[in-house]
Amino acid sequence: MRKKELKIPLIKEGTVIDHITAGNAVKVLHILGIPERTKSVVSVAMNVKSKIGKKDIVKVENRELDPKEVNKIALIAPKATINIIRNYEVFKKYHVHIPDEIVGIVKCPNPTCVSNSKNEPIESRFLVVSKDPIRIKCYYCEREPDNIADNIL
Ligand code: CTP
Ligand code: ZN
Repeated sequence: MRKKELKIPLIKEGTVIDHITAGNAVKVLHILGIPERTKSVVSVAMNVKSKIGKKDIVKVENRELDPKEVNKIALIAPKATINIIRNYEVFKKYHVHIPDEIVGIVKCPNPTCVSNSKNEPIESRFLVVSKDPIRIKCYYCEREPDNIADNIL
């Protein structure tokens, strides 16, 4: 008999990004440079039922994430958990975290902002005004990006 549900398979080695805000899996893939910059096997589930409503899941085989990637994911999926899988076991699990300051990972939408000047190598810098919902403000020009996901560097 045909199974009613095709569950996304467990992975042997790699990273599972779980509890992604439903609908944001594609943004997570974009942050991770998938498919352009990867050869890893990737599986994605969207709108999966969970205890606290719907969620997306991304599983990337044979890859661990760097802190910058995790910080970017926090901005668009603040409830995400990162699970590092080794030999089928959850070797490590942690929640993403939104810091009080965001440096070098979001572009200021103000074209005349000093952080966008071509001559001066100034890294973008934002202060976190609120974490839920996430609101950030440029340290230099006070501009608030209305779509953070579209401005992730
Ligand atoms: N997972 C996987 N491959 C493995 C082990 C786990 O893909 N070899 C996935 C699970 O499918 C789940 C996530 O990693 O999406 C976390 O696994 P686990 O901690 O076992 O699940 P839960 O206890 O449900 O996690 P949480 O408490 O974080 O909701
Ligand atoms: Zn600015």
